[in-house]
Parts: sequence; structure tokens; C-alpha cells
Amino acid sequence: TPPLLFSSKVHFPRTSRHLPQAIIIGVRKCGTRALLEMLFLHPQIQKAAGEVHFFDRDDNYVKGLEWYRRKMPYSFRGQITIEKSPSYFVTPEVPERIRAMNASVKLLLIVREPVTRAISDYTQLRTHAATASTMTNGTPRSVLLQQQQQQLQQQQQAARSFEELVIRPDGSINESYRPVAISLYHTYMHRWLEVFSREQILIVNGDQLIEDPVPQLRRIENFLGLEPRIGRHNFYFNHTKGFYCLRNETSEKCLKESKGRRHPRVNPIVVTKLRRFFNEHNQRFYELVGEDLGWPE
Ligand code: A3P
Repeated sequence: TPPLLFSSKVHFPRTSRHLPQAIIIGVRKCGTRALLEMLFLHPQIQKAAGEVHFFDRDDNYVKGLEWYRRKMPYSFRGQITIEKSPSYFVTPEVPERIRAMNASVKLLLIVREPVTRAISDYTQLRTHAATASTMTNGTPRSVLLQQQQQQLQQQQQAARSFEELVIRPDGSINESYRPVAISLYHTYMHRWLEVFSREQILIVNGDQLIEDPVPQLRRIENFLGLEPRIGRHNFYFNHTKGFYCLRNETSEKCLKESKGRRHPRVNPIVVTKLRRFFNEHNQRFYELVGEDLGWPE
């Protein structure tokens, strides 16, 4: 039998499905999966399997909160249910919709240094384009067509280098290229702060979560009102993977291969140019959230 902690849990008596009290809203490629898996080491946390995409996809949202609740795992009273859907952060309708569900929900936003995030995003798009999905069963035709168009666009872009996609022929930064646009955190953040109080949102440092996860997790335990239970004993560094892997009393687990990909080498001049471009935007983000994340200028 598979180890209990890392398999979908058995439905114990006196457990039921609850709407999430905390949501990881993004940002894509900043370690959203790692964060959820690490939090799941805590005995008081239950996680939704996969990404639910309830608030950002209209075809899911119209199914209502009961549909959403049924996507949640079984939990004991007092446990906290968490789900993560990274596209929540960038989708305009989402903050208001989450508030309509629960105005006192706790939100976790994990961010990384924006240039690294953009390169990670590019790397993922390139991989996905190369292995365009062939699983079409049960998908509506309109969605399929949309997906095919996206894939075609991705394939065309995949052949191109990061530098080509990010720097326009006139030398300026292509701000409308998705991997760049999503790294402009302040342009999305202000919407969240119009709807939620600052205290309801915890900013998690994704670069530090990679380097040294325990201190970040301690902050989150505190934010969620949980006893500190996740510690050094829950991690070991895997030199082959180059990342920390997770461990509990019964099993060990690394994140899958798609997490912790090798990034292409990017021309250092382009990196410097991007850092300079993001500097002003980073300052705007720091001001909005009242925290300096210390990203290089
Ligand atoms: P890369 O694959 O570009 O390195 P997300 O889950 O939001 O898509 O984020 C993926 C990123 O999580 C990875 O990006 C990786 O850097 C980061 N990450 C953080 N902690 C990790 C861990 N312990 N194992 C693997 N990847 C981790």
C-alpha cells in the first residue's frame, strides 16, 4: 500500500469536504506546487488535488460553490483546506469572486525575482510547445480550437530564443510578451489590494523557499494560525535534482521533473537589460505591499 501522507487520503469517519480557508493565488512558476506540497507536510493541512481553476474559468465558476466544495479533499474539523491555481493572480475577476465566497479567506502569493520567473515561464512554454498535448477526449470543440491556436502560437514562439522574444528589433523590452507581462507583479497586485486587506495576503519569497524552505514555512504556519510543525527533519537536499526534496515519517518525495527544469543560457546583456527594466516595477510592487524583496537591480 502506498504511504498515507503522499497518497490521496482515506475518507476517515467524521471528515468532510470544506471550501478552502486559504488559497495559493500564484504567481505561476514561482514555486506554487512546491509550496502546496511543503505545506501538506503539516498535519493540520489538507490540499486539493491538481489545480481547481474555479474562480478564473467562467465555465467552472458557473457550476457554483457546491461544485467547488466537492473538488476539495476530506478534512477533519480544525484542519485547513488549501488549493492552488496560479492563474488566479492575473485574472481580473478573481479577487471579487473569492471575496464573494469568503471575505476573510487567507491568501498566499509566492513570488520570485521577475527575470528568473520570466525565463522559467519561457522554458515551460517551450517544453509544452514541443510536446503539444494530444489528449482531446471530452474537451468541447471551441476549447479545442482555442487550445490548437495557442499551441500553434507556442510552437511558432518555441523555435525562437528568449532573447528574440523579449527584446524588440528596436532594442526595447517587449512588455506584452506573456512571460514578461506576468512578472510585472504590481499591475495585478493593486486589484487584490482593492478587494482584500493587506493582512489577509502573505507574500512568500519563492527564491528563499528554494534556498531554505523552513523559515518561509514558519512564517506561513504563523500566518495560518498553526502550530509550528514543519522543520528541518522534513527536508533533504537532492544533489542530482539540485533542489530540496520532502520527507515525513514514512516516505520521501521529490517534485516531478517538470519542477526544477534546466533553464537555457540567456545572454547576460539581456539579463542586465531586463533587470534594469524591472527595477522600477519592482519598486512599485514593494511600495504596494510594504515589503522590500531585495531583488537585484
Ligand atoms: P523551474 O522549473 O523553472 O526551476 P510552479 O510550481 O509555480 O510552476 O513553480 C515551479 C518552480 O518551483 C520551479 O521552476 C522551481 O524553481 C521551483 N521550486 C521551488 N522549490 C522546489 C523544489 N523543492 N523542487 C523543485 N522545484 C522547486
